[in-house]
Amino acid sequence: MTGGRLSGRVALVTGAGSGIGAACALRLAAEGARVGVLDVRGEAAEETAAAVRERGGGALALECDVSAEKQVAAAVGALVAAYGRVDVLHSNAAALGPAVYGRDHGIEDLDVAVWDRTMEVNLRGAMLLVKHAVPVMPDGGSIVLTSSVSAFVGDGAHAAYGASKAALVGFARHVATMYGARGVRCNAVAPALVLTPAAERALSPAQLADKAAERLLPWPCDVDDVANLVAFLACDESRCLTGQTLILDSGTLAHRPQHAIQRRREQRPR
Ligand SMILES: NC(=O)c1ccc[n+]([C@@H]2O[C@H](COP(=O)([O-])OP(=O)(O)OC[C@H]3O[C@@H](n4cnc5c(N)ncnc54)[C@H](O)[C@@H]3O)[C@@H](O)[C@H]2O)c1
Repeated sequence: MTGGRLSGRVALVTGAGSGIGAACALRLAAEGARVGVLDVRGEAAEETAAAVRERGGGALALECDVSAEKQVAAAVGALVAAYGRVDVLHSNAAALGPAVYGRDHGIEDLDVAVWDRTMEVNLRGAMLLVKHAVPVMPDGGSIVLTSSVSAFVGDGAHAAYGASKAALVGFARHVATMYGARGVRCNAVAPALVLTPAAERALSPAQLADKAAERLLPWPCDVDDVANLVAFLACDESRCLTGQTLILDSGTLAHRPQHAIQRRREQRPR
């Protein structure tokens, strides 16, 4: 595709076999980028890449576990062999399955393996992608990390997840500082609930209703809302934005909790 805001650029999206990552890969391709579609599930990566190609874009599926440095180096190498460079990195993969996120409960009973795997995928994975992508960004570039509102608020569970996402907020500032002089920007996006397969798996109907009540706006964010923001951060329209974390939450964190509690009381039939 030509003529978009990312025409001529090469993007790499991790966790792109599903949910937010798949939507972002499709969106960056629609903006003109050729896209490396990376996922630990090779078939899922291939499905997203096929969807990009069906829409007339260029995509290379990359099967890779982002926590494994050799695999990350090989995936970045394969993308560079195919398309010559990297201009945009969206580090988005996270360990969200039942064996890791699904067991990230109370800290007293937390299996250290759950903590370690969360950090390996969510945090080390981002570092490895930056490590291997920055050297192949010849004309600067834009890095976008997927954090979460869990970086900013406590919860009754998911301390490992929240800590990994908070670390990404700091990591984005360090990457922005280290590579700004080379024209490499680094920002993070922090969504609240986005209804993806992972979110639907993890939350009960009651939890979904509670999250809806916390929002100021009547609508939740969907994957295309995240893709809109990632595309903006990836392209030159955001050329002076770096080191920032943008919260995308329909107003969930913008108010005192009492506001939502009061509103629910008023809406409750007497
Ligand atoms: N969905 C939400 O409500 C929500 C909210 C805030 C932040 N996020 C963040 O958005 C990102 C995407 O979440 P999603 O909801 O689209 O989840 P998802 O499960 O739909 O997609 C995650 C993808 O990452 C891949 N993945 C997992 N481990 C990997 C690894 N080691 N190496 C490479 N790929 C791996 C999975 O195979 C999957 O395709 C995550 O970073 C998540 O923490 C999601």
